[in-house]
Amino acid sequence: MAILLTGSTGYIGAHIASNLLADHSEPLNLLVRARDLREARGRLWRSFQLHMDSPQFESFANSRIHIFLGDLTDTRFGLANDEYARLVHTTDSIIHCAASLNRKSEKSCLNVNLRGTLEVVQLAMRARDHHGLRRFSHVSTVAVAGHRANEVVQEDTAIDWNRSDYDPYARTKKFCEHMVHELLHDVPRAIFRPSIVLGDSRRPETNQFEMVRAFVFLAGLPVLPFRPNDRIDIVPVDFVADSVATLHQKEKPDHVIYHLSSGRESETFTVLTEALSQAQGKRAPMFVPELEGPSSKVLNALAGTAGKVGGTATLLKVFFPYLVWNTVFDNARVVAEMGRRPAPFSQYCYPLLRFSRENNFAYQYRDWPDASATSAAAAETQNSAQDSRR
Ligand SMILES: NC(=O)c1ccc[n+]([C@@H]2O[C@H](COP(=O)([O-])OP(=O)(O)OC[C@H]3O[C@@H](n4cnc5c(N)ncnc54)[C@H](OP(=O)(O)O)[C@@H]3O)[C@@H](O)[C@H]2O)c1
Repeated sequence: MAILLTGSTGYIGAHIASNLLADHSEPLNLLVRARDLREARGRLWRSFQLHMDSPQFESFANSRIHIFLGDLTDTRFGLANDEYARLVHTTDSIIHCAASLNRKSEKSCLNVNLRGTLEVVQLAMRARDHHGLRRFSHVSTVAVAGHRANEVVQEDTAIDWNRSDYDPYARTKKFCEHMVHELLHDVPRAIFRPSIVLGDSRRPETNQFEMVRAFVFLAGLPVLPFRPNDRIDIVPVDFVADSVATLHQKEKPDHVIYHLSSGRESETFTVLTEALSQAQGKRAPMFVPELEGPSSKVLNALAGTAGKVGGTATLLKVFFPYLVWNTVFDNARVVAEMGRRPAPFSQYCYPLLRFSRENNFAYQYRDWPDASATSAAAAETQNSAQDSRR
């Protein structure tokens, strides 16, 4: 029996997949958007190559990875009846990580996050009814806490239906959690809420540059429109992926909901900018909090305009509320259960910044060496052979 993982071609999902492959033994059912198995393998190789070399990938792809070519927004993922039945019959736990993070598109968040999560929940119910479901883990976000200011938010009180949300992403992710609790109340569940996931504390390389770009832009400014002692809750992706994989596989986790965050140990803008200034031998920026209002207006005016400036403004406009809310998410649960804390951002932010600048915010992807279709065909045969044994 396998773990169904959605979102494995994405940044966090690929980290979770590689963690499960390296440290655990179950096969993985991966839902991947692609026209055929060959394209799906190519897409997986792109997202997995940060974590493994091609022989290792090849070996996992031929043994423990089972690809299902599907889209969350299609009924039964758009799978043929026999494929869908195979997915139900071979899945004994689920990690639902896929989502639309498009904060500007209500339509995309509605379709992928709400309709897509409902499809995954329906699959979970079918697996539960067929042979039982060991656990349903849902990767959510701290953004479900809605509008906040100067708070330390606890897991069980984060959702307050009377609060407004910052964007359609937060709103739909909040309802996803609700769906999981309401429809799968009789299944062991875990809700994981990462804070701002930025970089990997083990290495400078990343293939996700959206937030990094915003961070590098801000790091280059001589004046910042923030309060210097505000804290910003940033967590490295390696801590997030390890926590999801470990707690998903644990027989009896202590809690249902976990903040995967830096919590009370989140660092202030002053600490972060000083760490960066020291590493670069530059002067630290000045903080002028009075500029918060005007900056927000400038971002609103520039967002959506053409060119590099417009692009950066759009990005910053989306993230600005999360930079000035001075709100952190208590992580005592995950720290106690993992027996360790996430590395502080000040320890690894400079290598991340340097890597991103040196590579012009693009990862140098290596092509999959096996360009022939033979291996994909072999995998197809192997998948069906393994299926008949499961
Ligand atoms: N990144 C953060 O800072 C952060 C913070 C808190 C929470 N989270 C949560 O973490 C999870 C993963 O985020 P991420 O940063 O890794 O995002 P990402 O890199 O954008 O990955 C999103 C994944 O979802 C898949 N997906 C999207 N629409 C799909 C569809 N219609 N059908 C099937 N798959 C679909 C994507 O597949 P394609 O490759 O085919 O597009 C991709 O694998 C999300 O649930 C997000 O809410 C992220």
